[in-house]
Amino acid sequence: MALVTMRQLLDEAAKGGYGVGAFNVNNLEQVQAIMEAAQETNSPVIIQASRGARKYANDRFLYHLMVAAEEVYPEIPVSLHQDHGNGPDTCRSAIELGFTSVMMDGSLEEDGKTPSSFEYNVRVTREVVEMAHERGVTVEGELGTLGGIEDGHGSGVVALTDPDQAVEFVEQTGVDALAVAIGTSHGAYKFTKEPDREILAMHIIEEINEWLPTTHLVMHGSSSVPKELVDIINEYGGEIRPTWGVPVNEIQAGIEHGVRKVNVDTDLRLAATGAIRKAFAEKPGEFDPRYYLKPAREAMKAVVKARMEAFGQAGHAGDYEPISLGDMAVRYREEGHKLTTA
Ligand code: G3H
Ligand code: 13P
Ligand code: ZN
Repeated sequence: MALVTMRQLLDEAAKGGYGVGAFNVNNLEQVQAIMEAAQETNSPVIIQASRGARKYANDRFLYHLMVAAEEVYPEIPVSLHQDHGNGPDTCRSAIELGFTSVMMDGSLEEDGKTPSSFEYNVRVTREVVEMAHERGVTVEGELGTLGGIEDGHGSGVVALTDPDQAVEFVEQTGVDALAVAIGTSHGAYKFTKEPDREILAMHIIEEINEWLPTTHLVMHGSSSVPKELVDIINEYGGEIRPTWGVPVNEIQAGIEHGVRKVNVDTDLRLAATGAIRKAFAEKPGEFDPRYYLKPAREAMKAVVKARMEAFGQAGHAGDYEPISLGDMAVRYREEGHKLTTA
């Protein structure tokens, strides 16, 4: 295998009634942690890179890390996805680089900060759908905005997705997957108390799924911010304020209602930071980076494995043969943007 389109991964997830974790990467240890977790749980997986990650790691380094993952784990289907593309140019360069899936986040203008109009969102997303599907590449769009700001990305303003508009948006753009805003935000500080179903606006997912049963829904800002990971950071000199994330059982409820892609970044950041702080504190005389990066990688792997099991993707890596980008392009040409889900 193993680089496959996200459309195929999500179509298979829909058939099997499970969700697929989409984990962010910036470096070697994150790619290794995710791939080891995928192998140990026999899971298909989505690896995603933000614009910040591409800048940090350098496009060529990042791409070749993925080629290495493909070579080392040929039995694992992996989609390489552009997270939060801020415009058609970012998506185009990701496709040219070899990504098999892109997110055109037209919920914000190109600056990645200003909430955009519905018309702007439809226009840029449609443009990316035309360009990507011609090459067999999957497209995720976003309607509504999340709170929180990551690396300068995000408006900080929450605008929940309007289910009526979601139907219009999918009709007009032809996206394969739709990110919906249900009150989550990026980063560690999502909620000041444990969120219940109302705070999370799970009814939006249920409603959209009822009206768009074949559109794959995406939950961003889905880190659970486990207290035990925050506690390790704080025990070893960190300063993370009391905070709550998205409970895993709420994500599972979303998966029952059409959520197929679940974005997780912060939980890996927390796991790595806690492990590194602990390693530094325990042996202040150590200075070999392998001494602290190895436990960081292990801690990230443990989080990813737990999520893969909870989302239901575990055990599904060998269910299907990959469809090539070329064959996907033919399908889009023949069946239209809204493929008849396999
Ligand atoms: O969209 C949010 C992801 O956590 C990526 O964050 O832009 O800091 O790489 P980043
Ligand atoms: P978290 O910050 O909750 O991990 O969300 C990540 C995300 O949505 C990436 O697009
Ligand atoms: Zn996101």
